[in-house]
Amino acid sequence: MTISGKAKLAGVMGWPIGHSRSPRLHGYWLERYGIDGAYVPLAVPPDRIEQAIRALPALGFRGCNVTVPHKEAAYRTVDRLDATARRMGAVNTIVVGEDGSLEGRNTDGFGFIENLKSGAPGWKAADGPALVIGAGGAARAVVASLLDEGAPLVWLVNRTRARAEELAADIGGNIETADWVSRETLLEGAALVVNTTTQGMAGQPALELDLRALPSSAVVTDIVYTPLMTPLLTAAQARGNRVVDGVGMLLHQARPGFAAWFGREPEVTDGLKAAVLQG
Ligand code: ATR
Repeated sequence: MTISGKAKLAGVMGWPIGHSRSPRLHGYWLERYGIDGAYVPLAVPPDRIEQAIRALPALGFRGCNVTVPHKEAAYRTVDRLDATARRMGAVNTIVVGEDGSLEGRNTDGFGFIENLKSGAPGWKAADGPALVIGAGGAARAVVASLLDEGAPLVWLVNRTRARAEELAADIGGNIETADWVSRETLLEGAALVVNTTTQGMAGQPALELDLRALPSSAVVTDIVYTPLMTPLLTAAQARGNRVVDGVGMLLHQARPGFAAWFGREPEVTDGLKAAVLQG
């Protein structure tokens, strides 16, 4: 493949970066839409992240994604933040302005909500309380976006309760924390269950959650997408609940960046999903 001198440039900064699926994702869209552009993996060590971000305009980059462990450093480095990035304290998408300034955005919550809307048609955050399990970085975007979308209440349960309390205090709004052992009793009133922990990932034990008390109308989703059908989703589907797998969050969170850098609103399709999951 030859990249022309006029190619629109973007990429993803991480450390390490070899496992990122974003180049495949954006590469699929670039090819699909016949755009003269390139999206490259950028391995940036932590002590050079600020320098690398600052160099984007000089290199002619239209922007980039930022992944682990650089999202907080990006938050501190950019010139402007959108409201969501400010609330998250983390940036996953940088857009270089006409004047060379750097705008930091956070599209993780957008990706989470869009994935639910397309994976469970008719689902609305306002349908009822959501039970969110886990209180790491991913939980932050999940909880904030659910509240922004009109969830009446979020129950936040984490193995280490103090972390859930910290997150709840940070985000604000109608969040209640509970002990890890009481997570199953909360299922009874839940319209949505979200696993944001690493439990259920290939090589990890399954999330321990007996779904017996969950109403059959509730939707169950997982942030984990390797495997696509986690033990939690398999169990939920077997008892008749609608389930939404986690890869869609990755696909949808990429849309705003692609549109800003390459000038076209991209679509999330089965072909894209297959390309991203391949290999
Ligand atoms: P990130 O910030 O990338 O989302 P993280 O900080 O590693 O990820 O958080 C992972 C989540 O999985 C946490 O909520 C963690 O719970 P703790 O805060 O108690 O560590 C949760 N987690 C990891 N292993 C777990 C286990 N064996 N049982 C229950 N929860 C677990």
